[in-house]
Amino acid sequence: MGTLRSNRDTRWAERVVTPLRLQEDAPFDNLLRPRNLRDFIGQAKLKEKFEIYIQAAKARGEPLDHVLLYGPPGLGKTTLANILAHEMGVQIKITSGPAIERPGDLVAVLTNLEPGDILFIDEVHRLHPACEEVLYPALEDFRVDIVLTQGPNARTIRLQLPRFTLVGATTRIGLLTPPLRARFGIVHRLDYYTAEELRTILLRSAQILQVRLDADAAYEIARRARGTPRIANRLLRRVRDFAQVRADGVITLDVALKALELFEVDAYGFDDVDRKLMLTLIEKFDGGPVGLNTLAAAISEDKQTIEEIYEPYLMQIGFLKRTPRGRVATPQAFRYFGYTPRGTAARQPGLIPGESGR
Ligand SMILES: Nc1ncnc2c1ncn2[C@@H]1O[C@H](COP(=O)(O)OP(=O)(O)OP(=O)(O)O)[C@@H](O)[C@H]1O
Ligand SMILES: [Mg+2]
Repeated sequence: MGTLRSNRDTRWAERVVTPLRLQEDAPFDNLLRPRNLRDFIGQAKLKEKFEIYIQAAKARGEPLDHVLLYGPPGLGKTTLANILAHEMGVQIKITSGPAIERPGDLVAVLTNLEPGDILFIDEVHRLHPACEEVLYPALEDFRVDIVLTQGPNARTIRLQLPRFTLVGATTRIGLLTPPLRARFGIVHRLDYYTAEELRTILLRSAQILQVRLDADAAYEIARRARGTPRIANRLLRRVRDFAQVRADGVITLDVALKALELFEVDAYGFDDVDRKLMLTLIEKFDGGPVGLNTLAAAISEDKQTIEEIYEPYLMQIGFLKRTPRGRVATPQAFRYFGYTPRGTAARQPGLIPGESGR
């Protein structure tokens, strides 16, 4: 039972589901990105709040407060940043933490902003500390201080910046320094999407890609997309390939099921780490409770990545619980991985950790 899935070839599924971003996603990410808030599906609370922020800022003739968007990859942070610019009727300038190598780079970006512009910094947690220092007064008082000479006679000049909005995005909120985080007036987490929401996204994407997709087929794809629009769109493209070659191009439920089966996409769209985490918890720790540190060490993953990226999804689908004593696998998780839930019967004998090759 424990080895139920051990021989399964998940290579294709892992190529499709595991990568947080694929090179091939980029053109589709752009093509499929909704342009205005109305077309942004799901995240109802977040949408409602942003509608209010936008309306209020526009009525006052002011830029939006600085916005920090965080959450797992592919949930719509970049999309939302672009929508904010569109809704505010301003330009967006896009850069990322690692792209800004020196403070001078950042000063150049800041001094080129026009009044009201949105500056989008992706992976904002990866900003160099010296660049963060430049950002603090820019965010607070819209000014930068430039040091002209070094040493005891150092001279600085102060440049006034236009009022602008920084939209920062990060998958790793825990890595953001407290002073930077404190300078964002609006902080929002993006959550995993429900299968219904992903279905709506898929039906919209299918229209843009001009492929016929039945509603029940869309739901089947949505269920396996790990709560993530980017993965849903990626699966749609693969199922579209299948429909084109093996059927008449139309994605019916039957076609979708056959494609997903052939491609061996997990019923929950699990990736490598999801599986490793759950199986370790079940096989090595008897389902828990086990502390986060121990679990992280056991699967050689970063603790914060587990906490911020993997656990939220596993909790959402009811496979994992956080308890005061540690992480616990639910009976549903035991069953899914081919084990008898604890307390209902003796565990399977002969299950040596690592036996199943994971
Ligand atoms: N709410 C949504 N409605 C419709 N489509 C969405 C939504 N959110 C995301 N998408 C789609 O998912 C894709 C990925 O979204 P996006 O690039 O904004 O994610 P991200 O959070 O910025 O990811 P990363 O952390 O990897 O940068 C986009 O192509 C977009 O079409
Ligand atoms: Mg992004």
